[in-house]
Amino acid sequence: MKCPRFHVLSIGKQFMQMHNIIWPRFLSVLAPKVATQDVKKPKTGIIMLNMGGPATKDEVHNYLLRIMTDTDMIQLPVQSTLGPLIAKRRTPEVQKKYDEIGGGSPILKWTERQGELLCQKLDELSPETGPHKYYVAFRYASPLTEDTLDLIEKDGVERAVIFSQYPQYSCATTGSSFNAIYKYYRSRKLPAGVKWSIIDRWATHPLLAKTVADRIRTELIKFPDEVKNDVIIMFSAHSLPLKAVNRGDSYPWEVGATVQAVMEELGYSNPYSLVWQSKVGPLPWLQPSTDEALKGFVKQGKKNFILVPIAFVNEHIETLHELDIEYCNDLAKEIGVEMIRRAAAPNDHPLFIDALTDLVKTHLHNNQPISPKFLTRCPHCTNARCQQTKSWFAKLCI
Ligand code: FES
Repeated sequence: MKCPRFHVLSIGKQFMQMHNIIWPRFLSVLAPKVATQDVKKPKTGIIMLNMGGPATKDEVHNYLLRIMTDTDMIQLPVQSTLGPLIAKRRTPEVQKKYDEIGGGSPILKWTERQGELLCQKLDELSPETGPHKYYVAFRYASPLTEDTLDLIEKDGVERAVIFSQYPQYSCATTGSSFNAIYKYYRSRKLPAGVKWSIIDRWATHPLLAKTVADRIRTELIKFPDEVKNDVIIMFSAHSLPLKAVNRGDSYPWEVGATVQAVMEELGYSNPYSLVWQSKVGPLPWLQPSTDEALKGFVKQGKKNFILVPIAFVNEHIETLHELDIEYCNDLAKEIGVEMIRRAAAPNDHPLFIDALTDLVKTHLHNNQPISPKFLTRCPHCTNARCQQTKSWFAKLCI
């Protein structure tokens, strides 16, 4: 029942017990490819940060390799040796999972679609900051952040907005991407004349809440009237090791804030719960897990559910394989669920495009290039790179 990429760590139990694995996801690519639209001379670049995913099976190994050697995401002993070994060993199994969802991750397709629609709207609503051009910057798959930063320099944008596509901030995901940007420029000159700024989190944006609420309503109406009010809405987010939570990572409570905003939008019409998926390894992570929570509810006599991806803005392997195949199909049949539906990710929902547009437009016109929260480390952070990154961005985004 565990997500394939997170199984990366199951290569050896004793090994896992010694290492702190954070958020081991999917795997990626090598061929430098940069996703942008054709804009002659962009004034404002919108850099869309995300983890990425292998577009084809051939890209799985490199994707895994990047994840397993990212010390912000995963901490292993002798990581430079062990990480590649794990990536190699896990590749066939993970490729099989991608086969089962059509051969690759759709995350690039969705991000490009979102970027196109976002820039169209920005050109219309904020002509003074246009033309706008989106740049996809993935951490572990093509188009890689480093290649995208090169392109931005070539394009000669005047303003660059680094826009995290994770609504809720975690040091293992968004934080890792910002650390990578700092690392890239540590040994290079910054492009001249660019004004930089950051959108690092947006867990409670009202239009994000409306988008997810609408996705839920779309599924709720498919249930018979007599059970509709009893359907349990299960918000499922990627889990996180308790070690990271106890350092002070804000992810769990930011996810909780999104859940409350969505339920407020729905008028608290149904019972609901926040559950965590994709745990890997024996160390303690946030619970309850999505599969165990489903089993628990069924034991209590509950039989109807909607699963809602609450921390992913695009379909990818966690939604298409773990939620759809492993839980909504296989597990649901096994434990006697009557009806279970999965709410779609935001993808290109018009309200979601409005949310992205509002976030960037407001950001372009306000006077806060960087948030005080971004500049503050977790209270128990022991990663020196976090301090260096935050100090560097504080000077960059003035
Ligand atoms: Fe959170 Fe370093 S681990 S700021």
